[in-house]
Amino acid sequence: MPTHKQARDRIIQLRDEINYHNYRYYILDDPEITDSDYDRLLRELQDLEQQYPDLITPDSPTQRVGATPLETFAEVKHRVPMLSLGNAFSEQEVLDFDRRARERLGVDVVEYAVEPKLDGLAISLRYEDGILVQAGTRGDGTTGEDVTLNVRTIDTIPLRLIGHDYPKVLEVRGEIIMDKAGFEKLNQSRREQGEKEFVNPRNAAAGSLRQLDPRITASRPLSFFSYGVGELVEGELPDRHSAIIKKLQDWGLRINPETQVVKGVQGCLEYYRRIQDKRAALPYEIDGVVYKVDPLVQQEQLGFVARAPRWAIAHKFPAQEEMTEVEAIDVQVGRTGALTPVARLKPVFVGGVTVSNATLHNQDEIDRLDVRVGDTVIVRRAGDVIPQIVSVVKSRRQGRLHKFKMPEHCPVCGSATERLEGDAKTFCTGGLYCEAQRKEMIKHFASRRAMDIEGLGDKLVEQLVDSALVHDPADLYSLTEAQLCGLERMAQKSARNILAALEKSTDTTLARFIYALGIHNVGETTAQTLSQHFGSLQRLMATDEESLQAVPDVGPVVAHSIVTFFSQAHNREVIEKLIAAGLHWPHVEIKPEDALPLKGKTFVLTGTLTRMSRDEARAALQARGAKVSGSVSKKTDYVVVGENPGSKAAKAEQLGVEILTESRLVQLLE
Ligand code: IVH
Repeated sequence: MPTHKQARDRIIQLRDEINYHNYRYYILDDPEITDSDYDRLLRELQDLEQQYPDLITPDSPTQRVGATPLETFAEVKHRVPMLSLGNAFSEQEVLDFDRRARERLGVDVVEYAVEPKLDGLAISLRYEDGILVQAGTRGDGTTGEDVTLNVRTIDTIPLRLIGHDYPKVLEVRGEIIMDKAGFEKLNQSRREQGEKEFVNPRNAAAGSLRQLDPRITASRPLSFFSYGVGELVEGELPDRHSAIIKKLQDWGLRINPETQVVKGVQGCLEYYRRIQDKRAALPYEIDGVVYKVDPLVQQEQLGFVARAPRWAIAHKFPAQEEMTEVEAIDVQVGRTGALTPVARLKPVFVGGVTVSNATLHNQDEIDRLDVRVGDTVIVRRAGDVIPQIVSVVKSRRQGRLHKFKMPEHCPVCGSATERLEGDAKTFCTGGLYCEAQRKEMIKHFASRRAMDIEGLGDKLVEQLVDSALVHDPADLYSLTEAQLCGLERMAQKSARNILAALEKSTDTTLARFIYALGIHNVGETTAQTLSQHFGSLQRLMATDEESLQAVPDVGPVVAHSIVTFFSQAHNREVIEKLIAAGLHWPHVEIKPEDALPLKGKTFVLTGTLTRMSRDEARAALQARGAKVSGSVSKKTDYVVVGENPGSKAAKAEQLGVEILTESRLVQLLE
């Protein structure tokens, strides 16, 4: 154990070193050592202070978080009042501000220090002999609250200034903010804990600073930028705002990296545009820029009006949040059948554009916001981001408004809607018939693993639907050569090929047909299982959820989707039309589960087969109860090797999995 004197000497050395590295890291954003080296220094200091508690001082870097919560906040009197800024909302107002300043000063051009206007809360930091002794909020400008213990927890605020040439008393003014990333993270964790989320970073910063327990503040991602000076005792400051700010940085305070000096009002306006373009990319929220006459003599000449200086003005960006009313909640149906509620708003100018719609995403989001038709809401549009409803102004709610419920019927086609367990979205079940889903449905129907209609690609489907030749998949089968040739860029030869492909596709399998219907949650494998289990479309269509759940791999969610799909008259009509158009498939013989000869066996197919396609081989194997997998593992029972096999054959050999030739496979199937 070191002696008291050794410990004291080392402690002083460590604190200096740690303060210096804090400065490199937080203020200059240019660390010199790694996090683990820093942690080592801090731990060494903590250990020494633990051994000699009498050596602990309040400005030690280990003493940021105090342990005892306060009862109330004390008052802080601002000996130099904390003023506010006048606002300019247009270029004209800025031109007027500059003209008045030039006239009063009798100069042609004014030099301005220009800075972002941070959207946080103003704070006053009092340093006596370089030690942070008090931090106060702005309050009414004359009296604020003493939030020293909370402010001490903020890493970007030094507990002790750097260097020696600082004034005896220096009151630093600046803004406490929460950056965007910290805000998102905080809200996410509040969401997860079921706590109320903060509306914006400014509220989050304010709420975090007004905590009686500093440990809570310490857990919040707050930071600080300084932009000015208040009281000053015994000391000199430079004669320009821009130079004072630089001096503050030398003393260890963080200043905004976007700060600069420009000449004249045109320089101000250019700066405004530059920062506006950069706004979305900045890691923190700003609501405008501030122009400050740079030379202090000129500031003194200009003086103050009421509670704001004549030498500075805030040029505000168009507000990103505004209040408006919800006039209606409409429901849109997407191409996958998903229903999305959209709020129709009384038009409001926000974020530089007029907004009259905002998406509400789904029922959960509506419940979370508790937004109802007739409500006053806060709408936010940041940059080119889609407008969003941030919150409902509950105090403005008048009378009894109805809670919104997603419709039970699709607003486009009238089919039933369904919301499946574990899914936030509600879907239309009129898949084959619903106009909103038409294109996607038909693309799926024609795709290779479904009806495999060669030549009927996405582009052509869109053309056919757009020209109203096709409304549902059944319409495909009544297309004529003349109709196809009437389409843009369609030669007679291609038209004939497509008609031939359509004709060919009528000879299909029950499994393919079930898959082609595009029932929610029914993929290829499930379609195969259903075909095998029910053997006929009629039987599948007539079944209930309970019997469906008896089918292997069919759970309640899938069973529900299937029953709902077939219960829609529209879907049944389209199926009838398809059968009438000539779609047919070979009879499927239902075998009792235990009579499936390949049940429990897993196959992998590799290489080119000559007597059948790989899809056919897969279907044949599945029909006999086998599983067909894409990759070889120890669990694989057989690997069927065709011509030019891939690495799967080698893998099989390596694992000692039995290899089958195509002719052995055929034998097995027979
Ligand atoms: S200077 C006398 N500079 O805006 C001038 N204020 O409306 C005092 N603010 O209470 C303020 N960024 O909270 C200044 N770069 C900046 C600022 C800024 C944000 C806030 C500050 C102040 C309010 C004035």
